[in-house]
Amino acid sequence: MASANRINQLSSHLSSNPHAAAMSSGDSAFTHVTQAPPDPILHLSHLHSEDTFEKRINVGVGAYRDENGKPWVLPVVRKAEKQLIQDPKFDHEYLPIDGLKPFYEASVRLILGKDSAAVKEKRYVGIQTISGSGAVRLGGAFLNRFRKAKIYVSNPTWGNHHDIFKDAELEVHTYPYWDPKTRGLALEDMLKSLKDAPNGSIIVLHPCAHNPTGVDPTPEQWRQIAAVLKEKSHFPFFDCAYQGFATGDLDRDASAVRYFVEQGFELLVCQSYSKNLGLYGERAGCLTVVLKSASVVPQVRSQLVRLQRAAISSPPAFGARVASLILNDETMFREWTEQLKIMSGRIQTMRKLLHDALIELKTPGTWNHITDQIGMFCYTGLSVKQVGVMKEKYHVYLTDNGRISVAGLNQSNVRTFAEALDWVVRNVN
Ligand SMILES: Cc1ncc(COP(=O)(O)O)c(C=O)c1O
Repeated sequence: MASANRINQLSSHLSSNPHAAAMSSGDSAFTHVTQAPPDPILHLSHLHSEDTFEKRINVGVGAYRDENGKPWVLPVVRKAEKQLIQDPKFDHEYLPIDGLKPFYEASVRLILGKDSAAVKEKRYVGIQTISGSGAVRLGGAFLNRFRKAKIYVSNPTWGNHHDIFKDAELEVHTYPYWDPKTRGLALEDMLKSLKDAPNGSIIVLHPCAHNPTGVDPTPEQWRQIAAVLKEKSHFPFFDCAYQGFATGDLDRDASAVRYFVEQGFELLVCQSYSKNLGLYGERAGCLTVVLKSASVVPQVRSQLVRLQRAAISSPPAFGARVASLILNDETMFREWTEQLKIMSGRIQTMRKLLHDALIELKTPGTWNHITDQIGMFCYTGLSVKQVGVMKEKYHVYLTDNGRISVAGLNQSNVRTFAEALDWVVRNVN
């Protein structure tokens, strides 16, 4: 009798539940799943790789390329890899949940500075993450659980910020950042929007080489931004994916974060070694929480560890081990700073060559922003329509917002790129 009831219950459940009914008829349980849009940047790389035109240009993906358009493994990274692999003690054991201690401790010193009061007073928590994206995600989860508030990202920002923070169940808003008229920072509008945001909001800031605009606040503008955040008790959330890539100087690129720490803020800062060490696929990153008091460090660490355990168990080891060797060895660290200058210097040279080519071609408009902007990206100001023509007519792949990764340019293709840009500016509205 009991089993007959159970069968009746089950069949009525099946008829009222469309997913269960689909299962019973042999269809997939996932027929109701709609197609998600492709990732715009990875999709561009795919289109570029499918294109057979010899002179195709990929300025979509934010990854460094050398003069031959090829990925560059930094010589210091090769050196550290060899040292690691030849070490008889090298193994593939799990890292602790919070990662490799010499790596995350060195990462904290790299971003805050070894003389930072927060470092000396031990009022920080560092934890290794799955690169910069993992740091942003873990930071979002931590704030969602322990300091929930509306979160404001710049308009525009790295596209993934929206998805990551939504996924972390935070309410995402934007503040103005880019002024299309000046092709620079919309400071007044930005400050007004930050003033209008509810007290205690979370504000996401790019400390250097803003993605996608390449426009960074000046030191004086950072002071004004910090003053508004203080007045409004907002919480700064720094996403630092390009330390050393903007100016070639690791300390200079960290100066906004350090200024906020000096001003006494509690804050979060995410670091990525994708670009500055070229460890893209190794997923080496760090999340640091700067606190007002060392007394809360154990509790904050324990909760970050708990969140990380539930999300990924423990972070990947190889990239962190490579980075740790470089960060903690004086000679290798010096070699790294020299190689960083090679990358940032080549990008600056490409900016100048592109600028000069456009001036020589007398391309309508002003092009100073190409050399004024900093880091890997340049916001050209091209419209979606113009971007479409760049792709179709010239086989040049850039994102719809007109952003180019300057690292995709080199001596052989910069002129072709400039000519394509010149044509669309003249002929496509
Ligand atoms: C602003 C910003 N944050 C975070 C990341 C994350 O990079 P990754 O996860 O490769 O470290 C990127 C990469 O493009 C970025 O531009």
